[in-house]
Amino acid sequence: MSEKELILQVSHLQKSFGNHAVLNDIDFEVCKGDVVSIIGASGSGKSTMLRCINLLEEPGGGAILFHGQDITDPKVNVPAYRAKVGMVFQNFNLFNNMTVLENCIVGQVKVAKKKPEEARESAIRYLRQVGMEPFLNAKPRQLSGGQKQRVAIARALAMEPEVLLFDEPTSALDPQMVGEVLSVMEDLAKQGLTMLVVTHEMAFARDVSTHVIYMSEGVIEEEGTPEQIFGAPKSDKTKEFLARFRNTSI
Ligand SMILES: Nc1ncnc2c1ncn2[C@@H]1O[C@H](COP(=O)(O)OP(=O)(O)OP(=O)(O)O)[C@@H](O)[C@H]1O
Ligand SMILES: [Mg+2]
Repeated sequence: MSEKELILQVSHLQKSFGNHAVLNDIDFEVCKGDVVSIIGASGSGKSTMLRCINLLEEPGGGAILFHGQDITDPKVNVPAYRAKVGMVFQNFNLFNNMTVLENCIVGQVKVAKKKPEEARESAIRYLRQVGMEPFLNAKPRQLSGGQKQRVAIARALAMEPEVLLFDEPTSALDPQMVGEVLSVMEDLAKQGLTMLVVTHEMAFARDVSTHVIYMSEGVIEEEGTPEQIFGAPKSDKTKEFLARFRNTSI
């Protein structure tokens, strides 16, 4: 029997802002190839949790291990870690003064120390994968939201991450552009990329993920397979949360 390879272990993670405890004793594991959807009401701590995993916030307690290594160890090279555990943001965070192609090259050269020519080839390959090859020389301001998000995904992929974190990647998009981004993400999931996705897209959580985490008020209220969470939720809070989506997106 083949054991799944453990990539990330979050244990007893805590985070407070002042005296406001935002994350309380968060425990979960991510194995290679897992697609974990994180759902929950606004303010439940989903972004804070992803930001701790990406070291955009300093965890307040507990541990986050990447291949067994504590990422808060001062010896960890943070930019190199962020290349391996990349992040895609709601508002794209592209460099607006650079072209699409330059956006996808810069990190590869500066952080991954790739040769410019190799970085260029790889950027073009990933931009082709997300359907953005025709826009290599465009600036972000010339693109739609869906196109910008696809460039942001290509840029993250060009770093050859082991895990990609997505924080509501479709929430800032006009409705007609949501599908093009979700379909890129679904393709990545099918190719076996390990992903953690904070989302309000319940159909994505149900149909694409291997695992669903429901967060409420800074704790993991319930987690399980999509079949368990959407088909037979145990907690009343989970049931109540999902009921709000019944008549809308799924
Ligand atoms: N930098 C900060 N300083 C102070 N409080 C913060 C900070 N970041 C987040 N919070 C608070 O932490 C709580 C959790 O916020 P977080 O953004 O993680 O929630 P979320 O689940 O991502 O919500 P949403 O669905 O609206 O994005 C909220 O009460 C928020 O106001
Ligand atoms: Mg958030």
